[in-house]
Amino acid sequence: MNLQTSALAGSDRTALVAGGAGFLGSHLCEQLIRRGWRVIALDNLQTGSRGNLQRLTKETRFEFLEHDICEPLPPGLTADLVFNLACAASPPRYQADPVHTMMTCVVGTNHLLAFAEANRAGFVQASTSEIYGDPELHPQPEAYWGNVNCTGPRACYDEGKRAAEALCFDYLRHGRTDVRVARIFNTYGPRMQPDDGRIVSNLICQALAGKPLTIYGTGEQTRSFCYVSDLVDGLVRLATVADNPREPVNLGNPGEFTINELAALVLAMTRSTSRIVHEPLPQDDPRRRRPDVTRAKELLDWAPKIQLARGLPPTIAWFSRLIEAESRPAAARSPARTAGRVPTLAVASTANRRD
Ligand SMILES: NC(=O)c1ccc[n+]([C@@H]2O[C@H](COP(=O)([O-])OP(=O)(O)OC[C@H]3O[C@@H](n4cnc5c(N)ncnc54)[C@H](O)[C@@H]3O)[C@@H](O)[C@H]2O)c1
Repeated sequence: MNLQTSALAGSDRTALVAGGAGFLGSHLCEQLIRRGWRVIALDNLQTGSRGNLQRLTKETRFEFLEHDICEPLPPGLTADLVFNLACAASPPRYQADPVHTMMTCVVGTNHLLAFAEANRAGFVQASTSEIYGDPELHPQPEAYWGNVNCTGPRACYDEGKRAAEALCFDYLRHGRTDVRVARIFNTYGPRMQPDDGRIVSNLICQALAGKPLTIYGTGEQTRSFCYVSDLVDGLVRLATVADNPREPVNLGNPGEFTINELAALVLAMTRSTSRIVHEPLPQDDPRRRRPDVTRAKELLDWAPKIQLARGLPPTIAWFSRLIEAESRPAAARSPARTAGRVPTLAVASTANRRD
């Protein structure tokens, strides 16, 4: 199938990437710049960093705006396309301030949707496989409504993201905004935070440090792992495909691995002799996760290309460099981990604002 793209594709128009200083957001900003967009990354720097945007510092079509989406967007800002990736994504981070997480998902998403409506901009929501909870159906197609505990410690994120989807589809149904929703499954790659408690970063960092690898439960629970470049490609296709799918679209890699298999791969690739220790499963931890990506294939002509054995080496190399840099004296560290001089959007003074 030939991918039809809308008038927005490859333009010199402006994309606003909320959460643009995060892991996925920073890769998305780079991809959009490569495709000819002007990009504004908006972020409150809760889990993201200016260091993630270091490659864009010399880019004249890129600007950074520090802002929390729980507050209305500053007046005068304009954009043609909005990506909402703003939300801490790892359980320890989103559980640290659960009320803020819920407000980010609901109030923050509403602020961005209202902004997109006012600008007649397209809108892409980064939703999550967590909306399926601990699934009773495997693999998970988009038609599955999920099995989520609405009162547990993960609810601020899972239910917040579900409420955000409800908002998105109400804006779409009422003809207010051209909204598209991606349900993102576990994604990994360079720029993940070493200490944010996600399984890929946890195991790699422990292996590189020669520490025991922590596996929660028996390790027979499964996950699917999508490499970041595949995911970003899927997001851009979803944003630019001419026909709005009008339904959520799963983006993830259907390759399914037990956590024990992942740990074995990490040990082999890092040549680590670390042992494995088991700890109790966290509450509401899903037992199986695997996307059904038929819809993405049919509507976006998208399928992941990078399998785990190919995506792990660059990810391990990233963490190796990071650990090495952290061990050097502060003055000698690479700018990747220190706050860089990212071009910052001067509120009320640039061409992108309407005062
Ligand atoms: N990485 C994954 O595996 C994965 C899986 C499913 C869904 N997602 C979704 O993708 C998006 C990006 O995830 P990520 O892995 O890059 O996480 P991340 O934590 O690296 O990025 C989130 C970014 O949002 C910013 N942010 C958080 N709350 C904000 C607020 N109120 N206002 C402004 N900025 C705010 C953070 O500072 C950070 O830069 C998230 O919405 C997440 O739910 C990610």
